[in-house]
Amino acid sequence: MAKVAVPPSKEERKKFRLSRRIGFCCPIGTKLALSFLSIIILSSLIFTLVGVQVISDRILAEAQERVRTDLNSARLIYQDRLEQVVQATQFTTARLFLKDILQGTAEAEYLEELSRFRESENLDILTITDHTGKVVFRTTNPDNVGDDQSNDEIVGAVLRSGKSVAGTTIISADELAKESPALAEQAYFRFIETPLARERPETEETAGMMLKAAAPVINEEGTLIGVVYCGVLLNHNYEIVDKIKQTVFQGVLYSGKDIGTATIFQDDVRVSTNVMNADGSRAVGTRISEEVYNQVVLNGEPWIGRAYVVNDWYITSYEPITSIYGEIIGILYVGILEQKYVDIEQRTVLVFLGIALAGVALSIFLSLYLSSIISGPIRKMVTASKQLANGDLDVKVAIKSQDEFGELANTFNSMASALKERDEQLKEYTKSKIMESERLAIIGQLAANVAHEINNPLQGIVTYSHLLLETMPNEEWSRGNLEKIVTQANRCRDIIRGLLDFARQRKIEKRLYNVNNVIKECVSLLENQALFQNIQIIKKLDPKLPEIVFDPSQVERVFLNIIINAAEAMESNGKLVLATRFNSVERMVEIAFSDTGPGISKENMEKVFSPFFTTKDVGHGVGLGLAISYGIVKEHKGTITVESKVGKGTSFTVKLPMIKDESNDRDGK
Ligand SMILES: Nc1ncnc2c1ncn2[C@@H]1O[C@H](COP(=O)(O)OP(=O)(O)OP(=O)(O)O)[C@@H](O)[C@H]1O
Ligand SMILES: [Mg+2]
Repeated sequence: MAKVAVPPSKEERKKFRLSRRIGFCCPIGTKLALSFLSIIILSSLIFTLVGVQVISDRILAEAQERVRTDLNSARLIYQDRLEQVVQATQFTTARLFLKDILQGTAEAEYLEELSRFRESENLDILTITDHTGKVVFRTTNPDNVGDDQSNDEIVGAVLRSGKSVAGTTIISADELAKESPALAEQAYFRFIETPLARERPETEETAGMMLKAAAPVINEEGTLIGVVYCGVLLNHNYEIVDKIKQTVFQGVLYSGKDIGTATIFQDDVRVSTNVMNADGSRAVGTRISEEVYNQVVLNGEPWIGRAYVVNDWYITSYEPITSIYGEIIGILYVGILEQKYVDIEQRTVLVFLGIALAGVALSIFLSLYLSSIISGPIRKMVTASKQLANGDLDVKVAIKSQDEFGELANTFNSMASALKERDEQLKEYTKSKIMESERLAIIGQLAANVAHEINNPLQGIVTYSHLLLETMPNEEWSRGNLEKIVTQANRCRDIIRGLLDFARQRKIEKRLYNVNNVIKECVSLLENQALFQNIQIIKKLDPKLPEIVFDPSQVERVFLNIIINAAEAMESNGKLVLATRFNSVERMVEIAFSDTGPGISKENMEKVFSPFFTTKDVGHGVGLGLAISYGIVKEHKGTITVESKVGKGTSFTVKLPMIKDESNDRDGK
């Protein structure tokens, strides 16, 4: 059978809207735990992201700093080797037999001695020229002499300056071949292509890169008679780079690879290196990347940072190698395998994440514990409040803590005790009041019955005493006594009437009428009486006073009593203000009677509406006027109040509700 969708009721829709306005509705403990958790997770996330970033930056900065220092050490080793060449050159110029060599008169053993010296110093060339730069003796190639070396930048500089000169220089293949064909061969490279290498149209390098030093040979007169130059070819010579590896990196391996590497570039080609190809051979003949080349060779600036070297990523440091004229001819490089730092970073990040996760777990545990500590007392308070609301005034909350919860629990317990005490007092008071009312009701009933029984015989006494008085001659001695009987009988009749009025449930006959009219009728009824001769009556009647539904004759009784009371209080001399107005807030018609009489004392204020309370002399008041008035006003669902200041005057205010017709009145009941 198909189900028919029932639309939500008005009440359900209201509840749904309310719950949406309040938001996610769940116990306070869960809310607290969720708030704590969201704060913890958010802060941990930020902490972890920032932490990982800081760790990575720190490790990279550390690696760059190290590689910068390593390059400084590498430079010192490179310069140290050049210094050795310089010293060997200078040592040679001091040899005594050098003059003989220059004059061509040297004995063969001296020439051999020089060759041995070159070998012992690990020099690739040791050559002597005359004062014009023409070669007179070559240790590496003794047969090839007579060529002019004055165009060589280092030899030329010595010839021009007469001082020692040393530096790195590029020597062409022809010049190398003159020194020794083996050197030209050693310098030669075919380029090997690697990923990311700088593009170049050439396929080979024939010139060599050399650490070269030259020094002048000076005779006793101080004249330059020749030049000695020595050199070490750097191509395929791994002495310097391996010394750097051993000294700076101590030959440490990482994952089977050298952790640190060094390279000497001739322009962009690796001519001496311990960076290895994939097959384990030295990566000589490979080239640098375009990016590094542009910065170091073209812009002449050092490069520090990540770089892809042959097959791996390294943290590298490159700096230019210059000729004696400052021209950039090569690059000195050191690099540390990046993998080591990547692994350190990963391990550190993992440890960091582990600590952060442990922190989060601990914080979650703490937050759940804390929220339960906070929400526990609240739950206790809620349960106790519900019990209290259900009438259990003996309820107590057991929270012993010294904080605000403890204080709240104490306050709650005192409130419950106070409520219990008040409740007991109220019960006691109500019980006594009920008893009193019952007693009064019985007395009232009794009084009404007695009044009713006395009324008929009293009527006879009053009537016959009046008749007797009318027929009795004035000079009759007993007339005075009869007059007293008549007066007292009248007084008894008034009391009985009042009692009957008070006790009798008169039928109220309401109709739509204007209260102002009742006031006017009262005034016209009273103003000519002797009691009001010296009383100034001021009417402040609201002309827009709405008509209301009430019993005009009953209300007139109330007004007459209040006005007569005022006149009697003022002892026929004073001012009486009668004011009407519509109280739009309470929706009541208000009638105020203010006199300038002696006022009512504080202790009498509470009694004025009580039956038989009067301050008037015997025969002048029964004390039922205000009691009857109170009953009539109450019957109309109105109020009657009094304010008074002794010596200044009294003000009675009657308020009658705004009911426009009988049907409304009945609705309101
Ligand atoms: N305007 C007033 N100024 C001072 N006292 C007043 C005033 N109105 C009433 N009283 C006091 O309230 C008492 C009770 O008034 P209430 O009208 O009930 O009785 P009564 O006037 O004494 O007698 P009854 O009205 O039955 O003839 C008065 O005796 C008087 O003491
Ligand atoms: Mg009165």
